Amino acid sequence: MSELSNTQALLQTNLPFPKRQGKVRDVYDLGDRLLMISTDRISAFDWVMPNGIPDKGRILTQLSLFWFNILGIDHHVLTDELPPEVAALDPNQTLVGRSIITKKAKVVPFECVIRGYLEGSGWRDYQNTGSVCGIPLPANLQQCAALPEPLFTPATKAETGHDENVSFEVMRQSLGNDVATELKERSLDVYRRGNAFAKERGILVADTKLEWGWFENRLILIDEVLTPDSSRFWPANQWKPGGPQASFDKQFLREFLDRSSWDKNSPPPELPSDIVEQTRMRYLEALEQITGKSLVIPNNPRG
Ligand SMILES: Nc1ncnc2c1ncn2[C@@H]1O[C@H](COP(=O)(O)OP(=O)(O)OP(=O)(O)O)[C@@H](O)[C@H]1O
Ligand SMILES: [Mg+2]
Repeated sequence: MSELSNTQALLQTNLPFPKRQGKVRDVYDLGDRLLMISTDRISAFDWVMPNGIPDKGRILTQLSLFWFNILGIDHHVLTDELPPEVAALDPNQTLVGRSIITKKAKVVPFECVIRGYLEGSGWRDYQNTGSVCGIPLPANLQQCAALPEPLFTPATKAETGHDENVSFEVMRQSLGNDVATELKERSLDVYRRGNAFAKERGILVADTKLEWGWFENRLILIDEVLTPDSSRFWPANQWKPGGPQASFDKQFLREFLDRSSWDKNSPPPELPSDIVEQTRMRYLEALEQITGKSLVIPNNPRG
């Protein structure tokens, strides 16, 4: 068992707080706040892989914290310091760098997806209908082409299974015009500013998913922001529409799984060590390129 899973087991037995386990994060409800621990789990095609990517949770946490800071937007992070009762259960600091204390928000039941380029479900939709989530587009766009302007294409947050793309109209009917419009405009603003920043550092944010929540009667940005788990990151200098792109995100893992014999309908196979290591390198590169800093690992267990 890894040091992290030892610590997770310790918390599970000793912390008197309800825990909710997402695909990637362990979330403890501390009453008026949340403890969000980003583990090293990685998911693809809606399945969590049996083995994780070492330090991935730290990479995602450090990148999200960077964005929350520089975007200057109302967000959920209170601190990245562990409460004493949690730190006491973590003498080797395996939780440090991967844990945040957040405001406890009421999650908006839509994922706010913004697309600047045509790939993934947007590309499939376009090939079938000539539009993306009901938004008509010019003819003859290539795979991974830049869109005339970024599109807001919300999806429902499914409790189980696939999130489903919906039209803005569906979101408006569910949340009301004012809230839906605010979410759309603020999400587009985060994408535009994030993409402009990343582009100067050599990364295109092809698309991204944001989550928002209500806190004290206003909407704040929650969850993670502009990470390789929630976005497609492409090296800007290699971008070439007309096919798939090299990437700093999960695409490398997805392509490995596509080539493998796994049917995507049963528990996935253990990931080979070279796939783990190369995925890790890509995540680290994204962090380093965007923030200009390398990952700090307390008590570096990897030597
Ligand atoms: N500030 C916050 N307040 C309340 N909930 C939050 C906050 N930030 C994130 N969350 C929720 O915590 C969970 C984070 O866990 P994770 O990202 O691993 O879950 P997931 O697998 O993406 O989603 P889920 O398991 O909910 O389908 C998400 O459900 C997210 O909506
Ligand atoms: Mg998530």
